[in-house]
Amino acid sequence: MSISTIERLNPFVKEVINEPYSFYSYYRKVDPVHWGISANPNLPGAWYLFRYRDVMKVMESPMFGREASKVRNDGEGSPVPKAYRGFSSMVSNWMVFRDPPTHTRLRTIVNKVFSPKMVENIKPAIIGIVDCLLDRIHLQGEMDLVEDISFPLPIMVIADMLGVDPKDRPLFRQWALALQHASASRLTPSPEIYEQAEAATQGFIEYFKKEIAKRHLEPGKDLITALVKARDEGNKLNDEEILATCIHLLTAGHETTVNLISKGILALLRHPQQLKLLRSTRN
Ligand code: HEM
Repeated sequence: MSISTIERLNPFVKEVINEPYSFYSYYRKVDPVHWGISANPNLPGAWYLFRYRDVMKVMESPMFGREASKVRNDGEGSPVPKAYRGFSSMVSNWMVFRDPPTHTRLRTIVNKVFSPKMVENIKPAIIGIVDCLLDRIHLQGEMDLVEDISFPLPIMVIADMLGVDPKDRPLFRQWALALQHASASRLTPSPEIYEQAEAATQGFIEYFKKEIAKRHLEPGKDLITALVKARDEGNKLNDEEILATCIHLLTAGHETTVNLISKGILALLRHPQQLKLLRSTRN
C-alpha cells in the first residue's frame, strides 16, 4: 500500500476492493474514526469505523438508525428517489431499511423461518437441489460455476422456502437483478436503472399477489403462508409488507450468496490443502 499521508479512503476503487484488508489495518491505526469518500457523490463524505468497539457502540445506540428520513429536514433519506413510486414505496417496507418498532415486528415474523431448526429441516431439500443441478452439469459435460451453481442454487432454495415454483427463477433473476442494480449502495443508479427497477417491482408484485391469493385456498407450510397467517390471525403486518418481505428475501440472498459460493470455491481451489481437509470431513 502506498499511503504516506492520511488520504480520504475511497472504498469503491479497484485497488481497495481487490485487497481491502491492508487499507482497513492502516486506517485502524492512523484514523480509526475516519471521514472518507461516500458512495453517493451528492454527499460530502461518509464516516468509516475501523474498531470493533466503535462499530458496536453505533449498532447498539438508538441515536443511530436506518430511517434517515426521520432526521433529515428535507424528508429525503430513502435509498430510492420518491419519483419511482412503486419501487420506492415497496423498498421502504424492507426490514433492512427500518428501525424499531417496525423492524422488530417484521423481523420477528421472519426469524421463525430462519431458526437453526428450520434451516436444519430444509437441509435435505437443499441437498436435493444441489444434486439436481449437478446431474444437469454431468449431462452437459462441463460447467460454468457461476451460471450453473452459484446463481440458481440460492434462488431455488429461497423459492422453496417461500413455496413458489423454482421454474420461475429466470423471472426472479431478471427482477432481482434490476432491484439490486437500483438499490446497491456503491452505485449511483441512472434513471434507466430506476425505470427497470420500477418495472421489476410491478412484475414481482403481480406475481406475489397471485401467490398470496392461492394461499387462502390452499395454505401450505411455506413462508408466504406464515406471512398471510400473521396478517389474518395476528394483524401483525399488512399486504404491502407481505409483498415487500417476499421480494426482499428473494432479492437479498442473491448477490451475497452467489459471491459466497463462487469466491468460496475459488479460495478452495487456491488452497488445495483446505480443499483436501474439507473433502475428508464432509458427511
Ligand atoms: C453470504 C450470504 C449473505 C451475506 C454476506 C449477507 C449479508 C448481510 C448483511 C451485511 C446484512 C445487513 C445489512 C445492513 O444492515 O445494511 C444483511 C441483512 C439481511 N439479509 Fe443477508 N446476507 C447473506 C445472505 C442472505 C440470504 C440468503 C437472505 C435471505 C434468504 C438474506 C436476507 C437478509 C435480510 C432479510 C436482511 C435484513 C435483516 C434485518 O434488517 O434484520 N441474506 N445481510
